[in-house]
Amino acid sequence: MAFKLLASFVSLLAAIQVANGAATRRVTCATGQTTTNAACCALFPVIDDIQTNLFDGGECGEEVHESLRLTFHDAIGISPKMSATGVFGGGGADGSIAIFEDIETNFHANNGVDEIIDEQRPFIQRHNLTTADFIQLAGAIGVSNCPGAPRLDVFIGRKDATQPAPDLTVPEPFDTVDSILARFSDAGRFSAAEVVALLASHTIAAADHVDPTIPGTPFDSTPELFDTQFFIETQLKGTLFPGTAGNQGEVTSPLHGEIRLQSDFELARDQRTACEWQSFVNNQAKLQSAFKAAFRKMTVLGSNVHDLVDCSDVVPTPPAPASKAHFPAGQFHRDVEQACRNTPFPVLPTDPGPVTSVAPVPPS
Ligand code: HEM
Repeated sequence: MAFKLLASFVSLLAAIQVANGAATRRVTCATGQTTTNAACCALFPVIDDIQTNLFDGGECGEEVHESLRLTFHDAIGISPKMSATGVFGGGGADGSIAIFEDIETNFHANNGVDEIIDEQRPFIQRHNLTTADFIQLAGAIGVSNCPGAPRLDVFIGRKDATQPAPDLTVPEPFDTVDSILARFSDAGRFSAAEVVALLASHTIAAADHVDPTIPGTPFDSTPELFDTQFFIETQLKGTLFPGTAGNQGEVTSPLHGEIRLQSDFELARDQRTACEWQSFVNNQAKLQSAFKAAFRKMTVLGSNVHDLVDCSDVVPTPPAPASKAHFPAGQFHRDVEQACRNTPFPVLPTDPGPVTSVAPVPPS
């Protein structure tokens, strides 16, 4: 009832605005904000709530990182190959990871996602959105808090899962490049280049469970910035384990306080992906556009995008980039393990000061 009233109020306020010579129909929502589709008005109160109460007033911190990881672990739960054999292969971005939390969080690759599912649950309960839509919305809004990030697209209208996704749809850091590329290709016909683009997410990321003795250990030296440091630092020679040795899916990293996944190491060096990987170094514009496009494709897995409502204009504009591509202090061009055979590694300055040691991402 309240929703109906709001919708009619919104359509009353519908206005034609002319911008840049093109007519854009916009509606003014009860909250005073405008959007191109009245159905998107319902998102503004949700965004206010998660920015204040989930993301600590608009930070790019741990909950944002975990919410972004969750978008992936929900969406990638789809296998047309498996479905073709008559066995349900999962519904993609259908909320199954939260709806069937008891089942899916027991899958090895989902280790730790229960924390953010439990943090998001009260928000889902107090807003009128599907679980599937909420998970993808939270990821896109969270990323908008990170300096340098693209403004990600948001769609609503996904149907919630009625069955859990099967196990083994989420790639593991100890999987081979062959198997990772095959998994993404099965899930959504992602190309090798799109897989590399999606891994830009690891620029705002840390691991709690790969080496459980050092929770919050980031994958690059700037986990609060959506910058190209991840692509630079994964190309540097690994020399140390930041915590203990012998963890499955971990290889040596170049910096104290930084952890390196075996899968990121291999994708950075495999001949199918190395040049694409290197192409992101010091290329913020490509980082933004390629991640935005691949993320959009990922977030609608399992739905027909034409059945969804595009609410992308509700997403805040992220802060401008706040870093310049560099080698961390103590690292130089000679420390690069050049893997791309076609193009030399870009020339970068080295940060001045004492050898870089990366601080953990604080839990909130
Ligand atoms: C080859 C594919 C991938 C593998 C093997 C992989 C693996 C991992 C692992 C092992 C962690 C650490 C989890 C922990 O110990 O807490 C992690 C963290 C993360 N991953 Fe991935 N990932 C992949 C792709 C992606 C994609 C496509 C996205 C998003 C679009 C993503 C987003 C994240 C984020 C944001 C975190 C950090 C979570 C946090 O800081 O709490 N990953 N990933």
